[in-house]
Amino acid sequence: MCGIVAAAAQRDVAPLLIVGLKALEYRGYDSSGVAVLDQGQIQRVRAKGKVREMEANYLAQPFPGGTGIAHTRWATHGVPTELNAHPHVAGRVAIVHNGIIENHVGLRAALQARGRVFTSETDTEVIAVMIDERIDQGMSLREAVLASVRELEGAYAIAVISRDQPGYVVGARRGAPLLVGLGIGENFLASDAQALIQVTSRMLYLDEDDVVEISRDSVQVFSLDGEPVERLEHESELSSDAVERGEYRHYMQKEIFEQPRAVADTLESRIGPHGVLPNIFGIDSDSLLRRTRGLHIIACGTSYHAGLVAKYWIEEYARLPVSVEVASEYRYRETVVPADTLFVAISQSGETADTLAALRESRRRGYLGTLGICNVAESSLVREADLKLMTRAGPEIGVASTKAFTTQLAALALLALELARRNGLDPQRYAALCAELQHLPRAIENVLKLEPAIIELAGEFIHRQHALFLGRGAHYPVALEGSLKLKEISYIHAEAYPAGELKHGPLALVDENMPVVAVAPNGPLLDKLKSNLQVVHARGGRLIVFADGAAGMDDMADHGITLRVESGGDFISPAVFTVPLQLLAYHVAVLRGTDVDQPRNLAKSVTVE
Ligand code: M6R
Repeated sequence: MCGIVAAAAQRDVAPLLIVGLKALEYRGYDSSGVAVLDQGQIQRVRAKGKVREMEANYLAQPFPGGTGIAHTRWATHGVPTELNAHPHVAGRVAIVHNGIIENHVGLRAALQARGRVFTSETDTEVIAVMIDERIDQGMSLREAVLASVRELEGAYAIAVISRDQPGYVVGARRGAPLLVGLGIGENFLASDAQALIQVTSRMLYLDEDDVVEISRDSVQVFSLDGEPVERLEHESELSSDAVERGEYRHYMQKEIFEQPRAVADTLESRIGPHGVLPNIFGIDSDSLLRRTRGLHIIACGTSYHAGLVAKYWIEEYARLPVSVEVASEYRYRETVVPADTLFVAISQSGETADTLAALRESRRRGYLGTLGICNVAESSLVREADLKLMTRAGPEIGVASTKAFTTQLAALALLALELARRNGLDPQRYAALCAELQHLPRAIENVLKLEPAIIELAGEFIHRQHALFLGRGAHYPVALEGSLKLKEISYIHAEAYPAGELKHGPLALVDENMPVVAVAPNGPLLDKLKSNLQVVHARGGRLIVFADGAAGMDDMADHGITLRVESGGDFISPAVFTVPLQLLAYHVAVLRGTDVDQPRNLAKSVTVE
């Protein structure tokens, strides 16, 4: 998704801004650009494609200047071209923008009626023209930004420079993140702390509707009505080392192999020999969890799949009703909220627009309280939820979520156990489940040893156009996650079904060209699943079965390929079975030669609706 970096410094900032943009590349984008103000002139370079292509253009004709703005664009309004790439210049103003301006058509028409001319198809250029028009009328850059953003509907984070105000950058945010990096004799703006960690770890997070003005030696924040406001300084925990790829070919592969460590970190100091430790969800969690009689879980994509697994766990062990919904649907429908329902939002980034909007909307709907499960401590979601539990996955750079998912499962398993204990789960069963969860890092370590076998298996998929994934119970969301991984990075069309649904429609697709991947752990549903798989075999489907060695799974070997997975127990099994599916998607994508870490059309953090 789009990224912003801006700087007010004494040194030349274009090289710094380009390094910042590179740190944001993982978020997904299709063009990029930089504009720098020097001696009353704005110089700009933009290019479609990778940041390195824009950088090459810059290096061919570098320009000096200590005040600048930069952007990676993920097209929403207007195709990805150099012309539509940011920064946009209107008169004396240059701007970069993340988000979507919903009333841009009306605003553009009004400006055109007053004789203003547009050079791009973007909603962003409208903001630039509005600001420039106000500066024409005698306003300062800050006053012009304040007056203009008051007219905008939709979501924005912007950074603006003006030829008339050398040394200053003005930023504003609503519904999209923007933060200030505090340097020594220089200050910065960015949409993500990762872009600034090369220059400072001192951050100041802006609130909704804040407007900020930075120069080399000043930072002033204002509310939308122009009143000065204070925002607290934070020390970021990010480090630039954490985003090195090391010996791995792709970030995704590195992140798959980091899972034992990431899950162990997520469990550390949160579960001990006597069970889940007190107050891990926050100091005020006791009274909320004590009163919780049901849960409503909201998330998108992979995080939604983690929520689906949690539903099985919480309903089985804590005997509390759980509903799980994708955030983009939840926010626009009327809900009936039973008394004492806890709202749970799950997000790796904590900046997903739909999930944040759902969290904000939930405040109107009468929940007992809100809990955020998130991987980014500085994110909006963490700042806005009542209770929080951080997954400690570390930065996830690959667009396809891997360690984010298994650490979310570890966090949700802690939640399920805590609720189960409070709701009278048999102490012996509780102790056994806690022990199983503590074994999860080791179980994931074991399953990673399957990589060589999975590399061989990946060959089966190179020329396939479609694949089906099947699972039952808590492993149905695992099948969903496996199919999402395969489709997003290998571009093979993949669907997942609860295995029992096959005969109600999808079976019509099964023939010798259709690989069918089955997640088949031990358990009461295994025999049912085997019958479902026999049906696939009878239609000529090619079976690929991930099983944990139950008697009878061997006969499936005659019908396709069976790989042994040691699940480590019923409770943690969904997390363990996810890992081979991640490896399968990864190696299929490598064989097909796709851009594994930055798949086409996708963004890491979806900060627009
Ligand atoms: O940051 P979030 O967890 O809120 O992101 C939600 C989805 O956009 C994300 O999980 C997406 O589905 C991933 N690309 C899946 O690999």
